[in-house]
Amino acid sequence: MSKLPALEDLGDVAGKRVLVRTDFNVPMEGPDDARTITDDFRIRAALPTIEWLTSRGASVVCGSHLGRPKGKPNPKYSMEPVRRRLAELAPGVELLENLRFNPGEESNNDDFVGQLVAGFDAYVDDAFGAAHRAHASVVGPPKTLPSAAGRLLQKEVEILGGLRDHPKRPFVAVLGGAKVSDKLGVIEALLQTVDALVIGGGMCFTFLAAKGMPVGDSICELDQVAFCRRLLDGPKPIHLPEDIVGLDANGYYATFGIRLHDGAKGLDIGPGTAAAFSDVVMDARTVFWNGPMGMFEDPRFANGTKTLAQAVADTKAFTVVGGGDSAAALAQFGLDDEVDHVSTGGGASLEFLEFGDLPGLAALRGAPNAR
Ligand code: 3PG
Repeated sequence: MSKLPALEDLGDVAGKRVLVRTDFNVPMEGPDDARTITDDFRIRAALPTIEWLTSRGASVVCGSHLGRPKGKPNPKYSMEPVRRRLAELAPGVELLENLRFNPGEESNNDDFVGQLVAGFDAYVDDAFGAAHRAHASVVGPPKTLPSAAGRLLQKEVEILGGLRDHPKRPFVAVLGGAKVSDKLGVIEALLQTVDALVIGGGMCFTFLAAKGMPVGDSICELDQVAFCRRLLDGPKPIHLPEDIVGLDANGYYATFGIRLHDGAKGLDIGPGTAAAFSDVVMDARTVFWNGPMGMFEDPRFANGTKTLAQAVADTKAFTVVGGGDSAAALAQFGLDDEVDHVSTGGGASLEFLEFGDLPGLAALRGAPNAR
């Protein structure tokens, strides 16, 4: 596969107007007309690219989506709070309104691409978190404009590509989150590469059901039980919980083994499992973690995720955390600086590990200056 064009491949950018696709889809809170940013990680992550361009005399206009406004303007998803933060971090850099306010963004409409690129001399994609979306602002501009991968996009691809192609062994992937069905492809792809898979979070109950265990009222995808059974019968070790904590049939906090009676609901891995999973992480030389081990937003069910996060922080292994909830958990426990790489992409990092390529990357390789 040919290399992605880099910023240097744009030539002299002095005096040029550059459109930079960023992923400023940041978490927010507060009323719809006065939302505030709760974590600006994705904005700060784009600064090296923005500074590279502005310090060489380019004028930079950023464009991003925010949330899923379904093709219509909606004050809840206005870029205004992001614009204010960006003005503090990178004064003088413009930011377009939410690209998804136009239905042409998600439908990858040619006219919308034409509107986006009008007046620009070059395009830079630094939106790793959106590189798995074949949307207008991701795949359209490289058809006509000289284009490059920004520093963040490049770094994500190097790190996740290294994990996929030449990890130090043992390579352990820890997966959590609610549903197996969200991660079917990446589980199969990871099983080709990893030395062991560790499964926690809501999805562990579908695996436990595949082992014939009663799971009570825990989340369980019956249509995925056969898939999980096939994986469990495969050659790679898959570590599952040996104890669970949750609520009993009367709604009281309870500790269980791996047989959950009717009415019982598992909401976190138990302390024994958290310790055993931590041992696996401590013995690894490469760790990829995506998805919380339980409902960590509730302090009663945060211990599994916290213990695992601490092991990921403490291990000598090279550690990569997929974005989304696991990145939020790390930040909540103050451990985000203790891992080697926190990906800015949730879905994008999983799809990259699954396919080894993404629509946004393929588009850059097809740009006029890359061919
Ligand atoms: C993300 O938060 O994973 C990216 O910004 C992509 O958002 P999307 O899932 O709404 O396309």
